[in-house]
Amino acid sequence: MTDQPLKGKVAVVTGAGRGIGKSIALTFAKAGADIAICARSQAEIELVHQAVSDLGRNCFSMPVDLADANKVLVFCNGILLEFGAIDILVNNAGVYLERGAFADSNPELWWKTMEVNARAPYLLARHLAGAMRKGGKIINLTSGKGYSAGANSSAYHVSKAALNMMTEGLANELWDREIDVNSLVPGPTATATFDNAQPGQDRSPEDILSAGRDALPKGLPAWERVKHPDEVAAMALQMASYPVGGPTGQVFSLARRPM
Ligand SMILES: NC(=O)c1ccc[n+]([C@@H]2O[C@H](COP(=O)([O-])OP(=O)(O)OC[C@H]3O[C@@H](n4cnc5c(N)ncnc54)[C@H](OP(=O)(O)O)[C@@H]3O)[C@@H](O)[C@H]2O)c1
Repeated sequence: MTDQPLKGKVAVVTGAGRGIGKSIALTFAKAGADIAICARSQAEIELVHQAVSDLGRNCFSMPVDLADANKVLVFCNGILLEFGAIDILVNNAGVYLERGAFADSNPELWWKTMEVNARAPYLLARHLAGAMRKGGKIINLTSGKGYSAGANSSAYHVSKAALNMMTEGLANELWDREIDVNSLVPGPTATATFDNAQPGQDRSPEDILSAGRDALPKGLPAWERVKHPDEVAAMALQMASYPVGGPTGQVFSLARRPM
């Protein structure tokens, strides 16, 4: 791979204010791409915007609640006004709002999970795929839980299963335009969602990882490993860098257990 495999490309990364999305945005900018980002927290995306600019890349950023379909459209229109066309869409933003049993779950939070994790990627792909150049890539951040649900957290599991199906359907629809669509399963990764952190209580990936094997959630095999978000970004870069004719409709996983 060259130093700047994404030189001249435009990449959209949702949920890029922190965690995996922030690592992907900065990794792609270092690889030469101009970047469009969103999240709800304006202060967080402003910092990432500045970091992308400091790397000498153009950045378009907007505070957006992806649960709001109209705001998603405004974001997409802003991207197209800024860049005209795009090459890469990373549907990264995701929420884990419900962790209890079906019987105890809150229907509004259950549905909001679907809006952010499944409907927003659908809307982004629907609005942006038409403006994607040949060789384009859509990368959907899914989860092992979208393949094999445990008890509890049903909204998350159902939303990620929906996103996995979207990967397959879109891959089948877009192959003749030479656009590849793949899922990326990070496995446990040291972020606020992984840490179940309350707003403003985020710990750095390094702090979370300092717990060593104790950071591993119960129920996962001892040979699983909590990763730094930059490791997920490296996999996203590899997926984004395949030349035309690369894999499509596939799942790239960093997990260390069978799905
Ligand atoms: N970390 C893991 O162990 C793990 C494992 C498997 C899969 N994943 C998936 O990887 C992706 C990234 O997760 P992460 O762990 O990096 O999470 P994170 O650190 O909590 O970051 C999530 C990002 O998404 C944004 N976001 C959340 N709700 C949003 C909304 N309604 N509108 C716009 N942006 C929104 C957040 O910003 P705001 O809150 O400011 O909006 C934030 O920038 C998710 O799809 C997650 O399901 C993570």
